[in-house]
Amino acid sequence: MTVTTRAELPEDAPATRRLHMAAFPGPDEADLVDALRRDPAWLPGLSVVAVEESGLVVGHALLTRLQIGEGWGLALAPVAVAPEWQRKGVGAQLVRAALAAAEAAGERLVVVVGDQHYYARFGFTPAFEHGITADFPPEYIGALALARDDVPRGHCRYPEPFGAV
Ligand SMILES: CC(C)(COP(=O)(O)OP(=O)(O)OC[C@H]1O[C@@H](n2cnc3c(N)ncnc32)[C@H](O)[C@@H]1OP(=O)(O)O)[C@@H](O)C(=O)NCCC(=O)NCCS
Repeated sequence: MTVTTRAELPEDAPATRRLHMAAFPGPDEADLVDALRRDPAWLPGLSVVAVEESGLVVGHALLTRLQIGEGWGLALAPVAVAPEWQRKGVGAQLVRAALAAAEAAGERLVVVVGDQHYYARFGFTPAFEHGITADFPPEYIGALALARDDVPRGHCRYPEPFGAV
């Protein structure tokens, strides 16, 4: 069975919530996504879902607006794949699709907090190498520049819903 990626549609929201409930041990990420939907940080088109042939949502990668210093970038979080679909390359397909959509939209930098062993394969390197800091241990923060010029630097201020997690 093949999996394709596309921008999430408003009507996908309940399926995306069910996916996060299945992929994570508790409701925190599902609640975070729903809170971000109502936040100014939400960017239609940069919420990407993976769907199997039947149309079922089996993965989700979310990019939201992130203040970095005096400038703006994107936060990649969360990323989730349905348990029965994990380790089949769907996560990588999703992250690459989300990054391609961001680049096409003219975005300049993406920050990700998490296991950098996983995100290094997409080109993320330690955030401090980009002059980026955040309220997380530095070894968990990665950054990927999508442009050569006007790339933001400084401290990340995550959208308010992230503080509620
Ligand atoms: C992390 C996750 C999105 C990866 O998706 P996936 O479709 O399984 O990933 P892929 O098939 O593209 O890649 C598999 C790789 O992911 C790694 N991986 C799987 N789960 C991981 C996790 N929780 N943390 C770090 N790496 C993970 C595997 O080790 C494998 O790496 P390898 O190629 O070096 O062996 C998915 O496993 C998932 O939804 N996990 C639960 C939710 C979660 O922890 N999300 C990340 C934090 S937001």
